[in-house]
Amino acid sequence: MTCTTDFLVIGSGISGLSFALKAATLGSVTIITKKAKVDTATNLAQGGIAAVLSENDSFDLHIQDTLRSGDGLCDEKVVRMVVENGPARIDELIRQGISFTHDENNPAQLDLGREGGHSARRVAHAQDLTGREIEHGLLKKVAENPDITVLENHLAVDLLIASRAGLKSTDEQERCLGAFVLDREDNSITPYQAKVTVLCTGGVGKVYLYTTNPDIATGDGVAMAYRAGARIANLEFVQFHPTCLYHSKAKNFLISEAVRGEGARLVDERGRAFMKKYDPRGDLATRDTVARAIDTEMKASGDDCVFLDISHKPADFIKKRFPNIYRTCLSYGIDMTREPIPVVPAAHYMCGGVLTDTMGRTNIKHLYAFGETACTGLHGGNRLASNSLIEAVVFAHQAFEQCRRDWPELSRISYPDVPPWSTAKAEKIEECVLISHNWDQIRRLMWNYVGIVRSVKRLTMVKQRLDLIVSDVRQHFHDFLLTPDLIELHNIALIAQLIVQSALLRQESRGLHYVIDFPEKDDLNWKKNTVLQIGKP
Ligand code: SIN
Repeated sequence: MTCTTDFLVIGSGISGLSFALKAATLGSVTIITKKAKVDTATNLAQGGIAAVLSENDSFDLHIQDTLRSGDGLCDEKVVRMVVENGPARIDELIRQGISFTHDENNPAQLDLGREGGHSARRVAHAQDLTGREIEHGLLKKVAENPDITVLENHLAVDLLIASRAGLKSTDEQERCLGAFVLDREDNSITPYQAKVTVLCTGGVGKVYLYTTNPDIATGDGVAMAYRAGARIANLEFVQFHPTCLYHSKAKNFLISEAVRGEGARLVDERGRAFMKKYDPRGDLATRDTVARAIDTEMKASGDDCVFLDISHKPADFIKKRFPNIYRTCLSYGIDMTREPIPVVPAAHYMCGGVLTDTMGRTNIKHLYAFGETACTGLHGGNRLASNSLIEAVVFAHQAFEQCRRDWPELSRISYPDVPPWSTAKAEKIEECVLISHNWDQIRRLMWNYVGIVRSVKRLTMVKQRLDLIVSDVRQHFHDFLLTPDLIELHNIALIAQLIVQSALLRQESRGLHYVIDFPEKDDLNWKKNTVLQIGKP
């Protein structure tokens, strides 16, 4: 059996849903999502969505802040394009029913938050639950649209590539025909054919032991794209969020950078503020600097965490501005209106990904990538806080515009016969420990040796260990009938290997990549992307 659709969207976060709503004006759309629709990084986003939305701000300021944060590696034309399109996309979200918080003193204005690296207030938010507001608002629109089908519990296994399906391409470029998709209900695998396939599967946080990301963040889109021959860039730039709640019972709970934007200070166990030692911007320095400063403080003191203190602000303000963070901390016995919150850095955002052009196109024909899965050139070596949601909606729009232009040609594409997924001699996996042991090893190796501060020696050691794990996992992938856990393990093993490969390539320190053997930035040799492509040196 084969399923067909005009647009296959893999992932149900802000970029996938925004694109789907637009693409449905051209043809049929199928969104597949590996768990429930709302299990996305978008849904967890607290801070908000950055754009120039006030008279005290300007496109130039937002562009300069983004470039400075990206540490010389942003693509300036992409930065300009995203920043200049930002306000229109926010208007569109509002027209789609998304409700952002308004300024109490001037209800006609949005209340704009501030975060690290921003020189003006420009972060639109829905209190501290911005992602949830956006995700639910867009899902509601999607549910009302008869041209969009959402399939939950459907996990893409691999892309369907023309040459591998025995089909000739009319030109040199490889062509994507859709994807092989596993239905979690019975683990059956079906080819889904599409005229356009979109990868927006989110990030890779689960490669690390501690992350702010949801469980779905296993780098599936990047891994599938790499295996299919797409160009993958800048995977060494893993952003660690400086302030994840440190509590034995809390799983991945983020304390938004917006808390520092409203005046919170990072302090050590004795209550001493330390950020000014590291950067004149203090607590509102960019994330690379803040996470590294916390790492240095913790290593020097031997303490398990540092603290974030906003207790000097009025309790009513804190409860109103950060209701979710306040309630969650309180549920762990921490009253943030009266005491500092224990925090540690955790893996948060992948700045690299599948390399795209300004329209979201990859080097594989009919394959697009956006959201955290993509490397568009916006973030460079360090993403400016709250620039990711705006990037997602701008690129979803760009991709739609491209598809609209190409539609006369795209709409004529027919669906060829493709071979089914081969299960050959595969057997049912009996011992789940084969999966859990490798999974745990990868995440610990990455956390201990490929974190905020790296060294060539440690990276080389991890590479050797990962090579063994990857070959073991590949063997399982071919020997056993596929299950969601095995597919995710296969993906995180590859992503870990690619992160280490990229980190070893970049022989300098820039943005989020700090390696003690090369502590300086080397513009002469390294003001460029690290690009990996299967079969290419
Ligand atoms: C936060 O609220 O601190 C996260 C925002 C982001 O990662 O852009």
